Amino acid sequence: MDSGLMDLAELEIKAAEKAAARAGGQDRLSGHIVCDGLVRIFRTEGVEVVALQGLDLVVDRGELLAVVGASGSGKSTMLNILSGLDEPTAGVARVAGFDLLGLSAKRRLEYRRKIVGFVWQQTARNLLPYLSAQENVSLPMKLAGSVKRDRALELLDMVGLADKAGRRPDQMSGGEQQRCAVAVALANDPEVLFADEPTGELDEATADEVFGALRTVNAELGVTVVVVTHDMNVAGQVRRAVAIRDGKTASEVRRSARIAADGTEEHVTEEYAVLDRAGRLQLPAAFVEALSLRDRVRLNLEPDHVEVRPSASGEQDR
Ligand SMILES: Nc1ncnc2c1ncn2[C@@H]1O[C@H](COP(=O)(O)OP(=O)(O)OP(=O)(O)O)[C@@H](O)[C@H]1O
Ligand SMILES: [Mg+2]
Repeated sequence: MDSGLMDLAELEIKAAEKAAARAGGQDRLSGHIVCDGLVRIFRTEGVEVVALQGLDLVVDRGELLAVVGASGSGKSTMLNILSGLDEPTAGVARVAGFDLLGLSAKRRLEYRRKIVGFVWQQTARNLLPYLSAQENVSLPMKLAGSVKRDRALELLDMVGLADKAGRRPDQMSGGEQQRCAVAVALANDPEVLFADEPTGELDEATADEVFGALRTVNAELGVTVVVVTHDMNVAGQVRRAVAIRDGKTASEVRRSARIAADGTEEHVTEEYAVLDRAGRLQLPAAFVEALSLRDRVRLNLEPDHVEVRPSASGEQDR
């Protein structure tokens, strides 16, 4: 585990270097993906479902981010918008300079072909069953009219499938199929890779291999990666994980390694609440319960922090 986190730090540095090289300098790393007050309302048979209610998120170029949330929290809705499959009702969604609200059909096609790659949860949705792994990876390049010799094999090698290039999906395990799907999604060298529950159908050990492949392509290609999942354990697989609740980002966990005063290596996991532009934040449910907070709280501004206290008893009724 220890060396694992150091590896993560090294991989992150490598990914940032590759991404900066691609973008033309460090100063172009910030805000590769920006969601600001993103809203998506579905209307079906007179019923309105607010799937995203003012979601804020910034992902830098070359980052590998996990978005974690319960079923129905809005993860797929967010990814469908970011990958150009769906349009937001309101708010800002910008990826690699493309403003996804009100994109023309032509620009949308260009965006989907050149900028993003996508991996679905269902292994069967990612690959064509009658083609080999190598043919599956070559297909998007053929469709885009730019077959690069050896590129498919290079990508398969990167995800650890160099020796399975000739196999069809039914001759590969679920984890191998998903790693192959990562290679397919990267065939046309996208700037951003989205994966919706790519390990949802896999056991833990196999899921780790798929995450390993995502980390490798992030570091080797500098591609920005966003993975959504309901599995809280993935926070241990990435340096930054954002929690999404009821269509909003609620908190985030950052992991880092540092050298302590006595020279030993310490690992720090810090949890942050997300503060939106209007100054709103959500208290963790455990904090609310521990102090039986409800309806209103007292806030005090101290020189270097803000205090949140329950309102005095009786105050609530006045
Ligand atoms: N096309 C749609 N029409 C109506 N409601 C929808 C539609 N798509 C999603 N929703 C609703 O929006 C909310 C968020 O759905 P979403 O699929 O984004 O959740 P999710 O976090 O991906 O969940 P899961 O982990 O189960 O995949 C849910 O209440 C869902 O029922
Ligand atoms: Mg979903």
